[in-house]
Amino acid sequence: MITLKSKREIALMHEAGKLLAECHNEIAQLIKPGITTMEIDEYVESFLKKHGATPEQKGYNGYKYATCASINDEICHGFPRKNPLNEGDIVTIDSVFNLNGALADSAWTYSVGTVSKQAQTLMDITYQALYKGIEQAQVGNRLGDIGHAIQSFVESTGFSVVRDFTGHGIGPTLHEPPQILHFGLPHKGLRLKEGMVITIEPMVNTGKYNSKLDKNGWTARTVDGSLSAQYEHTIAITKEGPLLLTDQGESNSFSL
Ligand code: MF3
Ligand code: CO
Repeated sequence: MITLKSKREIALMHEAGKLLAECHNEIAQLIKPGITTMEIDEYVESFLKKHGATPEQKGYNGYKYATCASINDEICHGFPRKNPLNEGDIVTIDSVFNLNGALADSAWTYSVGTVSKQAQTLMDITYQALYKGIEQAQVGNRLGDIGHAIQSFVESTGFSVVRDFTGHGIGPTLHEPPQILHFGLPHKGLRLKEGMVITIEPMVNTGKYNSKLDKNGWTARTVDGSLSAQYEHTIAITKEGPLLLTDQGESNSFSL
């Protein structure tokens, strides 16, 4: 069942989202060659504790960490680890914050030092793809409008959109209906209503869209070894248009 949120519930999720956005801004400052994704995970845990919030991913289906940290050809659900990040890597940090029972979910791809031109282009395209989707997150539009906007934009660049992982409704639990596909047909699918809160979180590969799962049962990576990036916001559907609950402001945004 799709739950519609009241203004008050959305305001509480927005508080969780602002905290998560602030944490992403801090992570942006921390990421450089030599830091480990385990150190970033520990930083996020202590940030949560300091602000009276909890990591929703920790314990979710047995997941052990506050963050997912997916490097280069890893698409999503990478485990934080003790290996240092290298100059030229790209790394996606994904976390779900719970503040007084209200959730917010946001993933961001960061460059480690200077990255290749291809990696930078991938990040730019993926970020823009997220905003193409957000533009369609309007009362009365259909889910296919979101998916189509993302897919047609990404494929026009020669990159591909991952099919095996999707966005989702969020609140009161992390993964709620509906599924938000990042591909699809315009004017098809469920109609968006005021009070829905969803994530849009396109994962884009420089090569083919196919993914495979590591032996750990969690981490997805590209089959062809190509690079993958992801940007994710939590968004409320309102009469006034899409409301970004995890907006980072100017500090960490790209030019569109
Ligand atoms: N933030 C992820 C998402 O977008 C959560 C993955 S579930 C986890 O849905 F347990 F792996 F963290
Ligand atoms: Co999500």
